[in-house]
Amino acid sequence: MENYNVFDCSIIEFDRHHSDRKGNLTVVENGTTLPFDVKRVYYIYDIPGGESRGAHAHKELEQLIVAASGSFTVTLDDGKCKRSFLLNHPYQGLYVKPGMWRDLADFSSGAVAMVLASEVYQKEDYIRDYNEFLNYKNNRI
Ligand code: TYD
Repeated sequence: MENYNVFDCSIIEFDRHHSDRKGNLTVVENGTTLPFDVKRVYYIYDIPGGESRGAHAHKELEQLIVAASGSFTVTLDDGKCKRSFLLNHPYQGLYVKPGMWRDLADFSSGAVAMVLASEVYQKEDYIRDYNEFLNYKNNRI
């Protein structure tokens, strides 16, 4: 697995199918609109004001994080550099490469963070200790 940095992560903008009177529809589809195939979807909601989520990294997992409703900020950290992204449109997603420490914060009331993931849940793929994360990143080329 390559040692990615925060500049390998970016916002992907999806098509919006407008309907004048009936709202919008956005499609995320394996093989066309996404750089990976989705094996799992989960969503985070009912986040109390002032709370943050995340505080971990993944060794192999690729993810797309979408503000399905409301807004929040995702800060990515590759061990050397940090980048923050405001997610506030359901037609945008933040593509997160493996090896990124992430923090989700500043949730608006009613925010829903929908996460599309390239693998099923694997506890061994998580790094939950920040110093362990720094060692993991710095011992790679
Ligand atoms: P956690 O990773 O701590 O959430 P966050 O990154 O948002 O802070 O996950 C919360 C709980 O949910 C934890 O007990 C593990 C469990 N969980 C699953 O069982 N399957 C999953 O796919 C995910 C993402 C979490």
